[in-house]
Amino acid sequence: MIKVNDVSLIYPDGTKALKDVNLHIKAGELVYITGHSGSGKTSLLKLIMGMEYPTRGNVTVLGESIKKNNAGKIKKVRKSIGPVFQEFKLIEGRTAFENVMIGMRIQGIKPKLMKQKAHEALEKVGLGHKKLSKVENLSWGETQRVAIARAVARKPSLILADEPTGNLDYDNAVNILGLLKTFLDKDTAIVITTHATHLINEETNATFIRVDNGNIKIERGDLYHEEFSL
Ligand SMILES: Nc1ncnc2c1ncn2[C@@H]1O[C@H](COP(=O)(O)OP(=O)(O)O)[C@@H](O)[C@H]1O
Ligand SMILES: [Mg+2]
Repeated sequence: MIKVNDVSLIYPDGTKALKDVNLHIKAGELVYITGHSGSGKTSLLKLIMGMEYPTRGNVTVLGESIKKNNAGKIKKVRKSIGPVFQEFKLIEGRTAFENVMIGMRIQGIKPKLMKQKAHEALEKVGLGHKKLSKVENLSWGETQRVAIARAVARKPSLILADEPTGNLDYDNAVNILGLLKTFLDKDTAIVITTHATHLINEETNATFIRVDNGNIKIERGDLYHEEFSL
C-alpha cells in the first residue's frame, strides 16, 4: 500500500527532514509514528499524501509514484486517502454535515449517495445528534470527530491522521485514538502520528515507527514485516 524506499526529504531552505527512510505499510496495518516535535513525523505523512515530493528515493502509494510530473495520478490516489490533518481545517459557518459533504466532493459521486455517506459517517463517530451544528460551536473533541467523519465518509483505503490528539485532554485523546482504530479492516491501513506515546503503549498489534531527527526506527511490528514482506 505504501512503499518508501531510500527516501530523503530536504526542504528548500536546506532542512533535512527525512534521511534515507525505508518503510513498507500494508493493508490491514495500524501504524503509529512517534517522535519529538520537529523530528519529521508530519513530513513523512505529507510525502505519503503527495503534499511533498522526495528529494531522493521513491515513494509509492497505492501503486502510484509520488513525484513531480505525476500530479494527475496523485490526485487519483488522494481519492482513496482519508486525511485528518491540521492543515485541512473545518470550514466555519458550515454545519458538521456540510463539512463532511465537502470532504467527498472530489470523489464525484452522486449527491444522494454523498448525503447518505455523510449521515453514516457522522453516526459512526457518535455525532449524529450534532449534524446540524455549526462547527465553531462544537467542542475540540467533537471538532476532531467531524474531521474524522470527513476523512472516513469516502471509505478510504488509507487513513492518515497527523496528531489527531493534539489539544485534547487525556480522555478525549484516548477516545479519538479508539475511534480511529474502529476503521481498521483487512483492506484499510491507518497511519497516526502522535507524540503522546503514553496513550498508545498498550497497543500490541500495531507497528510503531519512531522518528528521530529524520531517521526512522521500526520499534515493533518488525516481525509482522518479516512474515508478510512483499
Ligand atoms: N515547509 C518546510 N520548510 C522548511 N522546513 C520545514 C518545513 N516543514 C517542516 N520543516 C522542518 O522539518 C523538520 C521536521 O518537521 P516536521 O515533519 O513538521 O516534524 P514533526 O511533525 O515531527 O514535528 C523540522 O526541523 C521542521 O522545522
Ligand atoms: Mg508534526
